[in-house]
Amino acid sequence: MAVMKEENGKYYPLEDFVEQAYVGSRAEYEEMWKQSVNDPETFWGDIASELYWHKKWLKVNREDFFKGEIEWFIGGKTNLAYNCLDAQIKKGRGDKVAILFQGEPDEDVVKLTYKEMLKLVSKFANVLKKKGVRKGDRVAIYLPMIWQLPVAMLACARIGAIHTIVFGGFSAEALRDRILDAGAKILITANGYWRSGKNVSSKANADIACDLCAKEGHTVDKVVVVKRLNNFDVPMKAGRDTWFEDEIAASDISDVCPVQWMDAEDPLFILYTSGSTGKPKGVLHTTGGYMVYSYSSFKYIFDYKDKDIFFCTADIGWVTGHTYIVYGPMINGATSIVFESVPTFPNPDRFWQIVEKFKVSIFYTAPTAIRALMKEGEKWPQGRDLSSLRLLGSVGEPINPEAWMWYHKYIGSEKCPIVDTWWQTETGGILITPLPGAWPTIPSYATLPFFGVDARALQPRSSANEPAVDAPVNEQGELCIARSWPGMMRGVFGEPERFFNTYFVQQPGFYFSGDGAIRNEDGYFRLMGRIDDVVNVSGHRMGTAEVEAALNSYNTAVAESAVVGFPHEVKGEDLYAYIILKSGVEPSDVLKKELVGHVRKEIGPIASPGKIQFVSGLPKTRSGKIMRRILRKVAAGAIDELGDTTTLADPSIVDEIVKGRQ
Ligand code: WT7
Repeated sequence: MAVMKEENGKYYPLEDFVEQAYVGSRAEYEEMWKQSVNDPETFWGDIASELYWHKKWLKVNREDFFKGEIEWFIGGKTNLAYNCLDAQIKKGRGDKVAILFQGEPDEDVVKLTYKEMLKLVSKFANVLKKKGVRKGDRVAIYLPMIWQLPVAMLACARIGAIHTIVFGGFSAEALRDRILDAGAKILITANGYWRSGKNVSSKANADIACDLCAKEGHTVDKVVVVKRLNNFDVPMKAGRDTWFEDEIAASDISDVCPVQWMDAEDPLFILYTSGSTGKPKGVLHTTGGYMVYSYSSFKYIFDYKDKDIFFCTADIGWVTGHTYIVYGPMINGATSIVFESVPTFPNPDRFWQIVEKFKVSIFYTAPTAIRALMKEGEKWPQGRDLSSLRLLGSVGEPINPEAWMWYHKYIGSEKCPIVDTWWQTETGGILITPLPGAWPTIPSYATLPFFGVDARALQPRSSANEPAVDAPVNEQGELCIARSWPGMMRGVFGEPERFFNTYFVQQPGFYFSGDGAIRNEDGYFRLMGRIDDVVNVSGHRMGTAEVEAALNSYNTAVAESAVVGFPHEVKGEDLYAYIILKSGVEPSDVLKKELVGHVRKEIGPIASPGKIQFVSGLPKTRSGKIMRRILRKVAAGAIDELGDTTTLADPSIVDEIVKGRQ
């Protein structure tokens, strides 16, 4: 059997793949890309015309990056849920499976066709309306990976409510913060879900979060609870809590719900993500641009064809799941798998067993999962029939060449192209990626910008008066985007200045991503990781300031803390916390455990520091600024690369820190 050609480290797609691909050469891409940035009116106008608009736009886009203003499909009216459901049925896909739910128990499978989804979504939209939800209201969703989650999202979109999904791994306190910030009066949750053979309760955290909101003077009026687990009792508060199943079965709930036509720039969802301050940002996405971008990026990057079965292993609580489990696949009329459980239960071949069972053709996962499964050995994928696969994807963090090679060899049988896709919660969809039939890939390179994306690796600038200059070939620069693309975020919910200050100040006139990148001779981008105070733990983004705030709030013991990232074999990066204790508090392993427990409670397990070191002081400049560079080097064990420490207020602290390294 043919395998992909490798030459000078470049892997070329097989001819069969190229022939059937939407874009079959780099030259073809270049032509399309040029039109996409030089004439967005035509390029994006043509793509948008493939979708349903209740009223056509007057102008494709308008932007001012010096003000942080972005608009797409100005004056147009549409509805994303309509395009994902009704429009698919009109195209003849009514009996095709839209959402394929695979629960943790293998026999737990629910297949919902486009017609069935439309009925469920309409019913739940009517339930929301009955509960008083109107256009523009925020609906908080704290659900595990079950089919009711896409139903709830699409129901919101149908009536113009703004969903804000909170990842199930976040704690009650983190849920409270998000409900309060969004001002949500209604919460959708579940009694619980399956996790590695155990039942975990979502409702318990939801109840605590509602109580905590009440303490802040905010009432969550209604809580709708999905009965995911049988024989799993949870307290139900009279007048507030009702069951999802009872609600949609009620005699006054119709399975028809009129569509709320939305202005292209009406909000669609808010999704919280970590930044370089202690408070998460409510990233706001709007309707028209996000719709067009999720549609086109899914189609071209996954080279999606009608017969494909698509499996993205992300959680819908993160942006990857929003765009590439729900909206992107459904607006393309695809069959998308929603998987409740983890890759390693009951065995480390669960993904491969699902690929075999449903004949998955496109598989999209994170490097951290690949590394974890790689450690379990190739016997697991070798025991399964993976011949249905034709394309693989990677997302969330840089993929190291070893993991890339293993993925290529044992999962892709050396015949499937791998799309290493770079993007962010803020970007709404993939920005830098291979088009799988158009050019060769190099392990660890995300390669080239998608249509409409004018990406640059810029040299740092010390003042706005300096011109923007590209970093030389193969030298690291700040990854920036020179103009807007349709899927771009439109604001930070409730904090307009924060939007501008976070993204448009570092490199005036550009969107600043927070990542470092180099470009090689071919113009290929290689992502080098975050250059701000954000750490990527197992593909989950965590602000070090957020973790510090959680540690500092343990104020019986902690005087000050500094958290940095360090390289981790499986997780990519992990968190390292330096802690100064209050005087009289004794350092101990018990205290370390308490601190970890406290962070889990404040944020969630994903934020727990992997290492804690008690220190008597931190390396600070004479003006009191912590020199994080030194802390990062020590955490990484690179103690001979500490550089100049003479400008520190107290250089001797560095020796102590090095000696006590964990
Ligand atoms: C950050 C965004 C994109 C959806 C999931 C994460 C890192 C993402 C890649 C990649 C190298 C990557 C960046 C980015 N990242 N994809 N293919 N190669 N780094 O979304 O939580 O908003 O995190 O993830 O550092 O800034 P997110």
